[in-house]
Amino acid sequence: SLVRHYNFNVVLKNSTKLCSTKSFVTVNGKFPGPTIYAREDDNVIVRVTNHVKHNVTIHWHGIKQLRTCWSDGPAYITQCPIQTGQSFVYNFTITGQRGTLLWHAHITWLRATMHGAIVILPKRDIPYPFPKPDKEKIIILGEWWKSDVEAVVNQATNSGLPPNISDAHTINGHPGSVPGCMSQGYTLHVERGKTYLLRIINAALNDELFFKIAGHKLTVVEADASYIKPFETDTIFLSPGQTTNVLLTTNQSVGKYLIATTPFMDAPIGFDNVTSIATLHYKGTQPDTKTILTNIPPLNATTLTKTFTDSLKSLNSKQYPTKVPLKIDQSLLFAITVGIDPCDTCTSGNKLVSAINNVTFLMPTISLLQAHYYNIKGVFTDDFPANPPLVFDYTGADQPDNLHTENGTRVYRLNFNSSVEIVLQGTAMIAPENHPFHLHGYNFFVVGQGLGNFDHDKDPLRFNLVDPVERNTLSVPNAGWIAIRFRADNPGVWFLHCHLEVHTTWGLKMAFIVDNGRGPNESKLPPPNDLPMC
Ligand code: C2O
Repeated sequence: SLVRHYNFNVVLKNSTKLCSTKSFVTVNGKFPGPTIYAREDDNVIVRVTNHVKHNVTIHWHGIKQLRTCWSDGPAYITQCPIQTGQSFVYNFTITGQRGTLLWHAHITWLRATMHGAIVILPKRDIPYPFPKPDKEKIIILGEWWKSDVEAVVNQATNSGLPPNISDAHTINGHPGSVPGCMSQGYTLHVERGKTYLLRIINAALNDELFFKIAGHKLTVVEADASYIKPFETDTIFLSPGQTTNVLLTTNQSVGKYLIATTPFMDAPIGFDNVTSIATLHYKGTQPDTKTILTNIPPLNATTLTKTFTDSLKSLNSKQYPTKVPLKIDQSLLFAITVGIDPCDTCTSGNKLVSAINNVTFLMPTISLLQAHYYNIKGVFTDDFPANPPLVFDYTGADQPDNLHTENGTRVYRLNFNSSVEIVLQGTAMIAPENHPFHLHGYNFFVVGQGLGNFDHDKDPLRFNLVDPVERNTLSVPNAGWIAIRFRADNPGVWFLHCHLEVHTTWGLKMAFIVDNGRGPNESKLPPPNDLPMC
């Protein structure tokens, strides 16, 4: 294994997109940012230096960070932000993972313009468990606002209402045409008769996205850096934070084919219907050739999302066995709600909030991991509820009359090495919507998912304990549920949150504390000495 060194300089950059110029925060002046390349077992060392006026942190989304919680990156969870003029070195080893992940800023909404790919190749001389591709390409889907993104968030926080939706989606940094501004979009150049591995990343802030290429089938081989049983599809579905590797065989006639990314919207508010386009361009295409088009999934194509999600099964081969916990030590039920709370400082008088088990998470002012390590009192309480305070019909037919939530910086302690099951129950209250949940520090197995209320007696009988997909982010369906399992074998403080940035802002987040089970004097991993202070 090797040590891979990277320098990330956080700098402002000017650029014109959608016929409008703005200055925005980037890593090394790039959008999308630089790619981290490594092999399984490599040690990755990234020095991040902050040259802008914003506080920053970087999260390595989906990297398990085995015993390196201090390098995980969420602001005020595992570290204080890197302030102007400061640097911090993230240092982690890639253990038991290969595939595509992403890194992104993990403070306010800076990840809009600070994100990039992490490409983890298998160990040297170990082949992929699928036909070797001729070439590999990275496709990063994002969202673009013409105005300053921090201003969009501040305006939303002050009003108490949802933020302005983005002006376009981007494919590798390029928006396609939007009304009033023509643009060619990104071009993916290919040669006929080859196989390409596309590493597709959804780095958007608030939109789940469909992705498709006219005239071509895609074979899905990996999700969130875990191998899956290959299957063919013409549409990929990705929640923010998710990654998918697909094989594309260029077996059609030489020409140009439309690539489209379009949002999935089940919410009644904040409609965002901008389809962004790119072009698949075969080598040797005549200049005046017309682009072959494709039909675009409708905004509310729920069946498509379900078919895609249901098709994902872990590879479960001899070389890559699925190690789903069969016996459960700790079992939690998390109900996800959106509520409305009175707000003195908001222009609307009320504000939208979001909660897990009725707790709207308040960010602390120093990091939870520091408070945990140094035993600083008064930063958090460890009484996060294991179950919702009220049992009701989550599907919205019979809503509780009190939608007020309780604010708190409350965490849940998981016993080291225990097997944990969490049922995440979505609701249809106020803003019925999917919630893509992301767990830091672990991959989880998706043993079950369904619509309606989770049934404690019947649903577990149908759990898949053989080849459930293993991933780090999965959408809890609108008025439905998912059941996930993992072994709490990684000590630290680990964030769990909705990866729609707007919902994180509204409080849809919480954290777990996992000690290392070695007794009070050995139960903590010491911080690096350049750890930023608040
Ligand atoms: Cu990709 Cu906590 O985030």
